Amino acid sequence: MILPSLSIKGKTIRSPIIQGGMGIGVSLSPLASAVASEGGVGIVSSACLDRLLTKRNSKPYNTYDAVYEEISLAKEKGGVAGINIMVAIARDYEITVKAAIDAKADMIISGGGLPLGLPGIAKPNDTALIPIVSSIRALEVIYKKWERLGYRPDGIVLEGPLAGGHLGFKIEELDLESNKLENLLPPIKDFVSKHGDVPVIVAGGIYSHEDIARFLNMGADGVQMGTRFLATTECSATDAYKQAVIDAGKDDIIVTSAPGSPCGLPFMVIKDSPMFVSALANKRSPRCDKGYIMTKDREGNYTNCGAKKDNSNYFCICNGLLSSGGYNTDVEEPLYTVGANGYLVDRVMTVSELMQELSGALPAERSFSTEAA
Ligand SMILES: Cc1cc2nc3c(=O)[nH]c(=O)nc-3n(C[C@H](O)[C@H](O)[C@H](O)COP(=O)(O)O)c2cc1C
Repeated sequence: MILPSLSIKGKTIRSPIIQGGMGIGVSLSPLASAVASEGGVGIVSSACLDRLLTKRNSKPYNTYDAVYEEISLAKEKGGVAGINIMVAIARDYEITVKAAIDAKADMIISGGGLPLGLPGIAKPNDTALIPIVSSIRALEVIYKKWERLGYRPDGIVLEGPLAGGHLGFKIEELDLESNKLENLLPPIKDFVSKHGDVPVIVAGGIYSHEDIARFLNMGADGVQMGTRFLATTECSATDAYKQAVIDAGKDDIIVTSAPGSPCGLPFMVIKDSPMFVSALANKRSPRCDKGYIMTKDREGNYTNCGAKKDNSNYFCICNGLLSSGGYNTDVEEPLYTVGANGYLVDRVMTVSELMQELSGALPAERSFSTEAA
């Protein structure tokens, strides 16, 4: 199949492939700019960018400056590039949105919680605002709330239960037939077509050109992929992280919630990641000193961190993920996340090779659909 282009908020994307935001420090400007210049959409993860750029450039950055600079770098080689901003990183959410719009990000993709207030933070100008949802119910709530703010989403990312990172399902709902991505898509398409018809991008478990073609034939307008881009040369994950993905077998990739992320959402993890092994053995003393994933206290200040209060039920996710990007390895062991089909990855390739393979231009070394996988 020759993949069609994708249009979002008036911008044409040559290949309907969005490289999903991967935090912490996994999808940064080197990956995003490579994907954008190959005709897809490159997405930087906003998570901890202040710390990551402070380390990279050996000078202090605040969140606004770090986000602005990283988006500018992602757009430097041309093409379409934006940012993923997790709702769960609540303390820095508004300032990150403002910086992204000021830096002329082509899109803000926001999930990890419902981005109910996103259009009310700043006038988006040419930046497309795209919520991530995992159910029709969540989409309806967002449309209702955004309508009151006078804005309609410029596209929707529909993420199913096979995706890497945090998942928008209760742990007991993950295996329901009704929650398979192919079954979630039709009602979402139907709803969107009745409310202004914007592109629906599917995510979670999409691995091959055949998978992309299958979902486009089902009515999706594009795909968002994380795992495949994690195993690229341009991705900022450490070599050890990429090797852990290559080494992982099907049963090594599991969803965990206790111990889990302090934001309470189930999290996909490689079960041999050093931090997860230690967390399970309950060998870890509380080490959380970052506090990006905070909830508000009674006075409305972001002071509560699940991991600080109860380190046996929650990961210190900020430090664990920072460590898997090669940062503060002296503070915490690495925590690796990947999508459920990550076990299919058998080598690291360049973004250019991957984009050619996914577009169907290059015969894949192994051409297959994961439908029956
Ligand atoms: C290493 C990794 C980190 C991720 N981090 C985030 C994140 O910070 N925010 C987010 O919304 N999604 C995150 N995701 C989800 C991706 O953006 C994407 O939707 C997902 O990976 C798609 O599923 P796939 O991995 O099967 O392709 C992450 C995924 C991976 C693999």
